[in-house]
Amino acid sequence: MNKATRRTVIAGNWKMNMTPSQTTAFIKELAPMVAGKDGCDIVLCVPAVDITPAVEAAKGTNIKVGAENVHYKESGAYTGELSAKMLTECGVEYVVIGHSERRQYFGETDQTVNLRTLAAVNAGLTAIVCVGETLEQRELGYTETLLKYQTKMALTNVKAEQLKNIIIAYEPVWAIGTGVTATADQADEGNGFVRAAVAEMFGAEAAEAITVQYGGSMNAKNAAELLSKVNVDGGLIGGASLKTADFTVIVDAAQ
Ligand code: PGA
Repeated sequence: MNKATRRTVIAGNWKMNMTPSQTTAFIKELAPMVAGKDGCDIVLCVPAVDITPAVEAAKGTNIKVGAENVHYKESGAYTGELSAKMLTECGVEYVVIGHSERRQYFGETDQTVNLRTLAAVNAGLTAIVCVGETLEQRELGYTETLLKYQTKMALTNVKAEQLKNIIIAYEPVWAIGTGVTATADQADEGNGFVRAAVAEMFGAEAAEAITVQYGGSMNAKNAAELLSKVNVDGGLIGGASLKTADFTVIVDAAQ
């Protein structure tokens, strides 16, 4: 396994954007633009209320639908949360877990990221697990330590055979939504630290096989350079995933 044989995944993360009707219109517009572009998996991770219209609009296309979070319990008194089974029954195939916005604003911890990851893969979802350092952590020289720690915490109790259903997204917090993109070399290095952590837990072969995305102000202009790096197997894209033209350019760069 190497970059050429690893699965490249271009995933949009819509965050709290797009209504159901906008979702339908967006996917109907995007579908012909990305049709037949099978050099990468194409995923849109959408707000909960947009899942059903997204799945409906994506039927018969090469666009897959993801959620933006999942709870770790099967059911119960967890107001506002969604279970993995609810998602799979709606046709969801991917789910973002541990995004820095959830860690920052909603009290997500490495422990809950781990529990959510386990719940997702046990239900057959592909988890897109986000890790990333703040600017302060980078400036203190903790990037490698932090990325390895977050990666290992997220993958605790994951079985080796479940790794095929896990993607790690390296998203430096300072690059998310700021317009400041990591340089291609910084992205490659960060993704390399993630891969090294997987190697330390599961061995070199597993580390070579796992898809590691970069995220943080990836856009139509910088995608090709970022995706050319040996450790970058795709992107998790916020702002630029809200425009069909920009998202298509990124998909093209991944072919
Ligand atoms: P951005 O968001 O592309 O808008 O920086 C990326 C993300 O948060 O996943």
